[in-house]
Amino acid sequence: MAKMWAGRTAGVTDSFADELNSSIGVDSRMYRQDITGSIAHAKMLKKQGIIDASDADAIIAGLSGILQDLESGALEIDMASEDIHMFVEEVLTERIGDAGKKLHTARSRNDQVALDVRLYLRDEIESVKGKLKELIQTVTDRAEEYADTIMPGYTHLQRAQPITFGHALMAYAMMFLRDIGRLSDCSERMNESPIGSCAFAGTTYPTDRFYEAELLGFSGPCLNSIDGVSDRDFILELLSDLSILSMHLSRFSEEVILWASWEFKFIELSDEYTTGSSIMPQKKNPDMAELCRGKAGRVYGDLMALLTTMKGLPLAYNKDMQEDKERIFDALDTVSLCLTVFTGMIGTLRALPDNMRRAASAGFINATDLADYLTGRGLPFRTAYKLSGEIVAYCIRESLTLETLPIDRYRQFSPVFDEAVYDAVNLENCVARRTSFGGTSPDSVRCQIAEVKRRLEA
Ligand code: ARG
Repeated sequence: MAKMWAGRTAGVTDSFADELNSSIGVDSRMYRQDITGSIAHAKMLKKQGIIDASDADAIIAGLSGILQDLESGALEIDMASEDIHMFVEEVLTERIGDAGKKLHTARSRNDQVALDVRLYLRDEIESVKGKLKELIQTVTDRAEEYADTIMPGYTHLQRAQPITFGHALMAYAMMFLRDIGRLSDCSERMNESPIGSCAFAGTTYPTDRFYEAELLGFSGPCLNSIDGVSDRDFILELLSDLSILSMHLSRFSEEVILWASWEFKFIELSDEYTTGSSIMPQKKNPDMAELCRGKAGRVYGDLMALLTTMKGLPLAYNKDMQEDKERIFDALDTVSLCLTVFTGMIGTLRALPDNMRRAASAGFINATDLADYLTGRGLPFRTAYKLSGEIVAYCIRESLTLETLPIDRYRQFSPVFDEAVYDAVNLENCVARRTSFGGTSPDSVRCQIAEVKRRLEA
């Protein structure tokens, strides 16, 4: 069958060329946005007297019927159509006749597709933000539960200072909170309407782009029609935001994988989020965390692919840009599924506080506190630091800890030591004393939790 655009050519294309050219397999998911955009367009054409009111009404009724039938399943999308825009227009013309052929007045598929994608992504961003909120809620609830649970904190993956499990969890809550902020910024910047840019140069028809933009909930029309059809920054920006979000999920996953290992044994994952091995009967593998870590590579790939597609394109629309949707849809699908699974995994994991406490008791993670104690006794910090290091080295040689080193031994290092040193190196005290804003003391962590909850509600 000849294409709708037959005229200049016979509109009959090679079947493999059709396969390469077709995008309906990817863009059919935008049918609702395509119809919503077309209804607004018909309303604008009617208001401006560009088409007869009766034709516009027939178009609007026809489009509403198509939407209803697609939602109910009475109408199926024809995968032989070139794309979703062609499909909807074809069905409309079939159903209402010549009036349907007037819908595409003062419009091009170039501004139409740019519009549809923005409408679609606007909704998707809200959905991802909703999932992020659930994740933050879950992380915050777990942090509240473990606000007093002492574990070793690490730098260079070496035991460094005592923190609480709640404090570590809240660090991730902050990352996800920033992700929400980035998505909101992206959504706001994206919220300009490209429709009415037409092919790229604008139109001779007396259109009202402001009215059409308003009907569709945009802040206004984009300023330059050439940019309107050739801009894909909003997709790249969203892909960047999703890449950063995936990086956060990946880091958290890596941590979960470490914590769940026999080497750490700080947590136990629930059965629902682990798998067994086909050969090793003892295995309980953190596959979901590994996949959330692995999928980050895929989302980065989506970003890189579209950056590369766009980098050499001259103005204005080029068919290369049809590649944009497969990449952003893939990234959105991937991130959405990961967020759902990850939230379940965090919500159901069990911490093993005894193991965390045991790990915190080895490794001299209270050495900073020993130095701080000596500073309190009047030693300059650098001197206190050096002396504490010597005491640690001594304890390692003698298989002792700062908690078990006898007081007379301490006093051989310096006469300023007294029994209070044991309070100073007690891990609960080390944590409780870090009351600085944002610090690890249970009170500070509870402040963080309260503030995150407040921002979530705002
Ligand atoms: N399916 C196309 C896309 O996704 C729609 C735009 C086609 N425009 C054109 N001039 N052929 O980008």
